Amino acid sequence: MVRKTILSKAQLQRRVVELGAEISHDYAAKPLVLIGVLNGAFIFMADLVRAISLPGLQVDFIRVASYGKSSESSGTITLSKDVELDLAGKHVLLVEDIVDTGRTLAWLVEAFNRKDAASVRICTLINKAERREVDLQPDYAGFDIAEGFLVGYGLDYAEDFRYLPEVAHLEL
Ligand code: IMP
Ligand code: MG
Repeated sequence: MVRKTILSKAQLQRRVVELGAEISHDYAAKPLVLIGVLNGAFIFMADLVRAISLPGLQVDFIRVASYGKSSESSGTITLSKDVELDLAGKHVLLVEDIVDTGRTLAWLVEAFNRKDAASVRICTLINKAERREVDLQPDYAGFDIAEGFLVGYGLDYAEDFRYLPEVAHLEL
């Protein structure tokens, strides 16, 4: 397997700081809850939360399981770990590693719209817009990347490579 870095540690850092500033501006004086989608978003989430300056900002995590095709999330989706904070009246920002076909997030947005949150929006580190299969546009996207399988900075291939400090393209 050949690995080629496409987003360096410095590029990731710079972009996360920009996203944090944008989010801080957009949600000024609003009660915001960042909800990280495990496991892929854990590093992005940890950096993003420190790039946001909003007093009272809250953090929680969810985890989804999808059954079906092994590497794609086109099968049945369920929440294997639900959010624990009370979201009533709060603004929710779902934090994802990658939006690919968009099926996972479309399902999540719908699930969260059924709770009493004031709003539900999406922040993804990577947006693979060309692979979209449902009508879903992330509200915040770190990087638009056309194709290829990516690992590192939380992203895995068969649970490997999450620890890499940069994002690399993996030639399988
Ligand atoms: P979607 O439902 O197709 O949008 O699935 C998105 C999920 O698939 C992401 O949250 C990732 O967990 C996974 N995924 C999609 N593309 C990649 C990739 O290039 N590397 C690692 N995981 C990926
Ligand atoms: Mg994921």
